[in-house]
Amino acid sequence: MSADVRRAAQAAAFDRIGDRYDEAFPHKAGQVAAGEWLVSRLAPGSRVLDVGCGTGLPTLRDLAGAGMRVTGMDISPVMLGLARQNVPEADLRLLDVSGITPELGAFDGAVAFFSLLMLPRAEIPAALRAIRVALRPGAPFALGMVEADLDYVPISFLGAEIRVTGYPRDQLREVVTAAGFSIVGEHALDYAPVAPGRPPETQLFVTALAGGGPEPG
Ligand SMILES: C[S@@+](CC[C@H](N)C(=O)[O-])C[C@H]1O[C@@H](n2cnc3c(N)ncnc32)[C@H](O)[C@@H]1O
Repeated sequence: MSADVRRAAQAAAFDRIGDRYDEAFPHKAGQVAAGEWLVSRLAPGSRVLDVGCGTGLPTLRDLAGAGMRVTGMDISPVMLGLARQNVPEADLRLLDVSGITPELGAFDGAVAFFSLLMLPRAEIPAALRAIRVALRPGAPFALGMVEADLDYVPISFLGAEIRVTGYPRDQLREVVTAAGFSIVGEHALDYAPVAPGRPPETQLFVTALAGGGPEPG
């Protein structure tokens, strides 16, 4: 299956899920705290990228409310449409994570909450490097993932089939560090989604600073 076909399937699944995603994950204390950490390191007016912003709730809205200039990107037109309603002031792009290029400009901070887990493991290092290269040296980055030893495994979620990837936390640390980030914090949170048939999960929040220099080979 080509990367384009994989992306189209994931986007179509999130088009079907739409705002039911927020109903399944109503409590986002860990995500909110990671976003607050990011804001605490930035001046108002800073440019922040939200990779896989979904409906924009709560993160894009909170970042914009804290005075950040926000760019949200997502591959699902439906999720992006919801983000447009929820955070009209955001710069929103229908864009795959592989589309993070210098044309987007430099960012002072970035978040990726539960979006990189929608990629196969083979693509996650490049996605993290692209985010790192888009950031100014020393810029804060907050990542949310689910702790699991899975590589692009199909699961049924709110009536749609999505594919998900996870790492045990020590491996996640290695992948983030190898992409050129210095990890400053890690927080694990047990979470029970409000979705029929979804088992409890352990969410991992990693906070890190972008290293400088060219993209590592
Ligand atoms: C689990 S949701 C999380 C949404 C939001 N970050 C949040 O935490 O509420 C994952 C989002 O990532 C988007 N996504 C999946 N694959 C992507 C990709 N390759 N590039 C950009 N966004 C992607 C999906 O469309 C979906 O909106």
